[in-house]
Amino acid sequence: MKKVILLIVAGLFFMSGAAIAVPSGKTLEFTKSPMGKVTFSGTEHAEAGIKCKECHNPEMFPKMKQGTVKITMSKIYAGELCGKCHNGKRAFEAKKNCARCHKH
Ligand code: HEC
Ligand code: HEC
Ligand code: HEC
Repeated sequence: MKKVILLIVAGLFFMSGAAIAVPSGKTLEFTKSPMGKVTFSGTEHAEAGIKCKECHNPEMFPKMKQGTVKITMSKIYAGELCGKCHNGKRAFEAKKNCARCHKH
């Protein structure tokens, strides 16, 4: 019996640890645009099969810290940052889908 409880406790500890530490479970909010808040879901991007390095590399988002890169639409339309994928090929095109990112 003791062993079972220990296993459950260990399991719960592991799960809660994962929820805090695994950034794929994280959500980032970008609130500076007059078009409305953009919510970035780490889970959705991980589920789309995207690896950390595809975004966290020197050309895109070098630091795993929010607020270090200024995101603008001109960069996105030029195929940089979020626009590297949100170009109508790998993911929905930014130009035609404002409201899929910007929500009020
Ligand atoms: C689709 C792009 C993308 C992918 C994939 C991605 N990230 Fe991020 N991540 C970002 C962006 C954008 C930021 C904010 C960077 C900034 O503002 O400078 C960020 C920020 C973070 C932060 C800081 C969060 C905070 O609250 O400051 C951590 C930690 C992080 N990422 C870890 C990871 C890990 C680990 C992976 C892989 C499991 C991953 N990311 C995959 C785009 C991505
Ligand atoms: C490495 C490629 C890649 C990058 C970089 C990337 N995304 Fe995505 N994103 C995807 C894919 C793939 C999907 C899921 C497929 C789709 O919805 O077209 C997705 C889905 C989304 C969704 C879900 C939309 C919906 O209607 O379900 C939002 C919102 C989003 N991305 C915002 C962002 C933002 C903001 C950034 C930049 C901080 C970003 N993405 C960077 C590939 C990427
Ligand atoms: C793939 C997600 C995504 C899509 C689609 C998208 N945006 Fe953005 N947009 C962002 C992010 C992320 C920011 C940065 C917000 C911040 O820094 O708080 C931003 C910033 C902005 C800004 C303020 C900065 C600037 O460049 O002027 C405006 C205005 C804006 N978006 C308008 C639009 C319009 C209009 C559309 C549709 C034609 C659109 N966005 C589509 C993600 C997106």
